[in-house]
Amino acid sequence: MERIVIFACLLSVVLMSSSSPTAVMGNYYSKSRVVPVPHTQKKTNLHFFMHDILSGNNPSSVLVAKPNGTVVGEGNVGPFGAVYVFDDPLTVGPDPNSEVIGNGRGLYASTSRGSDPTLLLNGDLGFTSGEFNGSSISLFSRDPIFGVKEVAVVGGRGKFRMAQGFALLNAVYANATTGDAILEFHVTIFHQ
Ligand SMILES: *[C@@H]1O[C@H](CO)[C@@H](O)[C@H](O)[C@H]1NC(C)=O
Ligand SMILES: *[C@@H]1O[C@H](CO)[C@@H](O)[C@H](O)[C@H]1NC(C)=O
Ligand SMILES: *[C@@H]1O[C@H](CO)[C@@H](O)[C@H](O)[C@H]1NC(C)=O
Repeated sequence: MERIVIFACLLSVVLMSSSSPTAVMGNYYSKSRVVPVPHTQKKTNLHFFMHDILSGNNPSSVLVAKPNGTVVGEGNVGPFGAVYVFDDPLTVGPDPNSEVIGNGRGLYASTSRGSDPTLLLNGDLGFTSGEFNGSSISLFSRDPIFGVKEVAVVGGRGKFRMAQGFALLNAVYANATTGDAILEFHVTIFHQ
């Protein structure tokens, strides 16, 4: 009996929300409504490599801002306050010539004043092939350069709409002089 009452309440909420106007006149927001939460969600694991190359004539990551008076370059790529914008290929394997399955676009900033170099990583990793072609995941997280690197997945687009999860990062190649790195991603996400 109780179940039937709850179901009837949920149903009326669904009917109300579909029949009422979504926006209150003169405002930029709708009325907040109680909505039924889906009983199921999908879980997907992703595994790929991101190539973040600062060196050479065609870098995938470029310095766009730095503290006044700071020299940034080979040997000192990430002083506190340095900001880079990246457009990095995503591949199925660690080899840069392996199949490209997407691109990671965003920016990162060097955000530690201490002896623990840390980036703030903010990027949209979009996929261009297979089941998730056109979908992407959004990262926004502290990224400790050394040690266990876990970054938060805070959202997504396309098939990854409403995504939440985490990515474990492992540098399979890193050059402290140039700043070049190849990062292996193991991602776990829950999404619609
Ligand atoms: C940057 O540093 C130089 C040299 O110290 C100084 O002359 C200049 O005023 C600084 N610029 C800003 C915007 O602070
Ligand atoms: C990915 O989707 C785009 C846009 O729909 C399409 O043009 C492209 O051919 C697709 N790529 C693959 C590898 O399926
Ligand atoms: C890092 O890059 C420098 C400059 O290109 C190069 O001399 C050095 O061999 C590289 N180190 C590694 C471990 O690849």
